[in-house]
Amino acid sequence: MSKTPRIAVVGSANVDLTTFSDHFPKPGETIFGKSFDLGFGGKGANQAVAAKLCGAEVFMVARVGDDLFGPATIQNFRNLGIDSTHVRQVPGVSSGVAPIFVDSSGQNRIIVVKGANDKLTPADVDSAAEMLKSAGCIVLQFEIPLETVYYTIQFARKHGIRCILNPAPAQPVDPQAIAGLDYFVPNESEAEAISGMPVRNVEEAGKCARQLLDQGIRRVLITLGANGSLIASPDGVVHVPPFPMKSLDSTGAGDAFIGSFATFLAEGMAEPDAVRRANLYAGLSTTGVGTQKSFYTRANFEAEWQKRDGA
Ligand code: RIB
Repeated sequence: MSKTPRIAVVGSANVDLTTFSDHFPKPGETIFGKSFDLGFGGKGANQAVAAKLCGAEVFMVARVGDDLFGPATIQNFRNLGIDSTHVRQVPGVSSGVAPIFVDSSGQNRIIVVKGANDKLTPADVDSAAEMLKSAGCIVLQFEIPLETVYYTIQFARKHGIRCILNPAPAQPVDPQAIAGLDYFVPNESEAEAISGMPVRNVEEAGKCARQLLDQGIRRVLITLGANGSLIASPDGVVHVPPFPMKSLDSTGAGDAFIGSFATFLAEGMAEPDAVRRANLYAGLSTTGVGTQKSFYTRANFEAEWQKRDGA
């Protein structure tokens, strides 16, 4: 494989407040939860951490708030060895936070309050231009202003940098603005919301992916949770099966998939191999609690890969 990949994430950083409970309160009801976890999250930050743990050199462009969480988030990037030169505090604004509720099956429900993430502008992308130009891949999500996402896609296209977009949380997209993408990576519910088509099984995911390709996106990769993932390009549609997993908390599994996929691909792996490995990396993240703290190091991942892939 090639030299260390350089991956830049232009995206969100949140603090996750996760409550575990067997059921959730009705309006006006108070109940006891089982346990609580506080951790660093945000789709952008999670994807950056997954890429870093998989072995990439990672650069983050983000905004944090004028509160206790802001400096702590920057310190977390530093502790993990992620370049945070372009992560700045915004005066008078809260950090992004995410109250998360996880049920006994490991399924999550998330409310994101964007806070400072909403202040990441195209001018911030310009400020980070020299660093971004040195990256082999730029990764984006939808927890920052859409204007900034579209601007960064154009930037990546102009400079010939691979660009991966995770359209999460789902919002209506401008097909023209995303036509320059290399990979569009929604999960089932995001694919449904954006395409207007049902995605209840692998077959429907394939139809939805074809429709998204028809809108001019080059490659569509739909993550399907316990059903693995599906990759669609003008060459065809391929379903990549999952690895069996005893899931405790699925929060951040999509982020684990994207950060690891970006790294495997940038290392020079063939796309089907990168997707298969990312399926395992994401699956393994569901066996631990929290988002970033449940992600495997590359060494631990490789040990699991040897066991499960039979390679
Ligand atoms: O994808 C999981 C993430 O979504 C959480 O870390 C939360 O912060 C929200 O951004």
